[in-house]
Order: sequence, then C-alpha cells, then structure tokens
Amino acid sequence: MGALGTVLVAGGAGVVGECVVHALLARGARVVVPSRSESRLTALAGRVDPADQERLHLVLGDVGTEQGAATLRDAVPAEHGPLRAVVASLGAWWEGEQLVDVSSETWDRILRDNLTAHFLVARTFLPLLDHTAAPVYVTLAGIAADHPEPFAAPISITGAAQRMMVRALAVGDIGARVRLHEVAIMTPVVTDRWIGAPPEPDWLTGEVVGSYVADVVAPEFARPNELLLEIP
Ligand SMILES: NC(=O)c1ccc[n+]([C@@H]2O[C@H](COP(=O)([O-])OP(=O)(O)OC[C@H]3O[C@@H](n4cnc5c(N)ncnc54)[C@H](OP(=O)(O)O)[C@@H]3O)[C@@H](O)[C@H]2O)c1
Repeated sequence: MGALGTVLVAGGAGVVGECVVHALLARGARVVVPSRSESRLTALAGRVDPADQERLHLVLGDVGTEQGAATLRDAVPAEHGPLRAVVASLGAWWEGEQLVDVSSETWDRILRDNLTAHFLVARTFLPLLDHTAAPVYVTLAGIAADHPEPFAAPISITGAAQRMMVRALAVGDIGARVRLHEVAIMTPVVTDRWIGAPPEPDWLTGEVVGSYVADVVAPEFARPNELLLEIP
C-alpha cells in the first residue's frame, strides 16, 4: 500500500466518486467504497483495472442514515484497518421549479442526500481517522454553492451549507487534528458515461477531477492550509 493509505470514498459508486476511486487506486491507495446499491458496486468493480482489484473493497451499506453509518463505522475499520482519509462525494445535481414552487418532498430529499448525508459521514468517520498518519477529509462541491441558481435553489442552499459545515469543522477541535478541504468542481464532469448534448471543450474530465482529489489526499499535498480549493 502506498503513502495514501486506506481511503473511504463515500459516494464512490457515483459518477464523480468513481473518478476519485480510479485515481486513488492508480496511486496505490487501498480504497473502501460503501453504496446502498449492490448493482452500482458490481458495475464499479467491473470498470476497475484488474491489477487494482485487490485494493478495492466494496461494502453494501448506507452512509446516509444514522443506523447505516453506525454499522459501517463498526465494520469498516474492523475489516480494513485504520482509515487515513475520507472523500465525501455525496448528493447529486437537481433542477426543476423555482424555490417557491418546490415541493416539501423534493426539499426533504435534497436536504437528506446533499446535506444530512455529509453530516452523518463527517460525524461518523472524522473521529475514526488515524491521527498518526496525516489524516485528511475532503468533501466535493459544485458550482451552485456559490452561485444562486433560480431553478436549482435547493442545490445552491445545501451546497452553501455543506461549505459552512467544513468551515465549522475546521475551527473546531477536529480541525486541529485532521487536514480538511472542500474541492469545488466548477463545471459538469465529463466521463465515459457522459450522455446528452456534447460537452463544452473547457469542462473538466473525470480524469482531471480524480487526479486533483488524489493530489489533495496525498500526504505531500502542496497547499495543506487551504480549506477551500477549486479545480483550475
Ligand atoms: N457530476 C457532475 O458533473 C458534477 C459536477 C460538479 C460537482 N459535482 C459534485 O460531485 C459530487 C457527487 O456528484 P455525482 O454527480 O457523482 O452524483 P451521483 O452520481 O448521484 O453520486 C452521488 C453519490 O452520493 C450517494 N448518496 C446520495 N444520496 C445519499 C444518501 N441519502 N445516503 C447515502 N448516500 C447518498 C450515492 O450513493 P449510493 O451509491 O449509495 O446511491 C451516490 O453514489 C457532488 O458533491 C456534486 O456536487 C458533480
């Protein structure tokens, strides 16, 4: 195992999470990916280089509920040893009505997926990080956190709250022990699973995003004191 150690990628079976998983595996990390979906885990495994398979550990579980997170908290270190880092690639884009027309159902779901899941992962796994091994905690964010989007207001709101969560953690006791970062991804991420209209030439690719996040996770990351990072 390389210097990156064991990294939990919450949301690692999602589009962006998978890019991070590939990049971390390529650099020699041992990577643990929880997902609520067996089929997403199987699909992820099928896209990982056979040479890296033995360092990829897939766990069926739900980081987004109190019970699910507690079960993973007990199972993951017992099975895979101490965690050095966590990458939280949780929640997804949504757009629909303007805020005054958003249903409570949609609001509750986006709050749960894009904010509560982040809270549960942070609360569960930050205290578990191996404090002897330069621990790192990284959350991923999108453009809406800093830009009010009329037809995606719940995404802007949860994104801004997610950012404040990292800032609040950083000024707490845990911020003195764990290197914390938010990595903002300011364009759609183009992967080999891209569907729809052709992407703009300046949009970030999955390789660039994965590689940047792997750089951040690495112990020798050049900007350890910059909490809020943006992929150039
Ligand atoms: N895709 C893009 O183009 C893009 C661009 C800029 C920024 N980003 C950022 O990248 C991050 C991930 O986005 P994505 O596009 O990769 O989304 P995605 O493909 O939908 O993946 C999101 C992951 O989050 C997990 N998740 C969502 N709600 C959850 C819940 N309630 N409980 C537990 N797990 C939950 C899912 O886990 P399961 O496997 O358990 O379902 C899923 O794997 C977000 O922060 C987003 O803002 C994405």
